[in-house]
Amino acid sequence: MTDGPIGVLFVCLGNICRSPTADAVFRQRVQTRGLEGRIRVDSCGTAPWHVGKPPDPRSVAAARARGYDLSPLRARQLCWEDYFDFHYLLAMDESNLEVLRREAPVDYAGHIGLLLDFAPEAAEREVPDPYYGAGDGFVRVLELVEAASEGLLAEIARRERS
Ligand code: 4NP
Repeated sequence: MTDGPIGVLFVCLGNICRSPTADAVFRQRVQTRGLEGRIRVDSCGTAPWHVGKPPDPRSVAAARARGYDLSPLRARQLCWEDYFDFHYLLAMDESNLEVLRREAPVDYAGHIGLLLDFAPEAAEREVPDPYYGAGDGFVRVLELVEAASEGLLAEIARRERS
């Protein structure tokens, strides 16, 4: 992996609900701390179904109510280059984690794991897929992603110092 900013890639299934939310929330945290030049943020899905589409309007609305702007984001699918461009590949759930591990080059030296490993205080280990569920699922996604964003930033800061 090349020198330069630390790359963080959030990964879900469709890249229209959970990972775009994580992308916007974490990006805002990074900007607030003036770390845009040090940490690069992106998101993708493991499935191709929604490639090119904007985030789900329900995710956009829930995020906007908490001060995050998802509107510039467009869905894309996980690709081979992602393993060379990103140091952290963070899955929203176990099934997407499995895809990340299965597709990885054997010598991938970055971190592949669950996003919520960075929110040990949360009851969940996976960010529940809100796509087919009730509206409050989108708020829960935001709460979990906000909790993990703090832990993830702390981890990256520790790594930068060491
Ligand atoms: P996401 O949610 O993985 O959080 O973007 C989903 C979006 C679309 C579908 C499933 C989950 N889908 O079946 O189309």
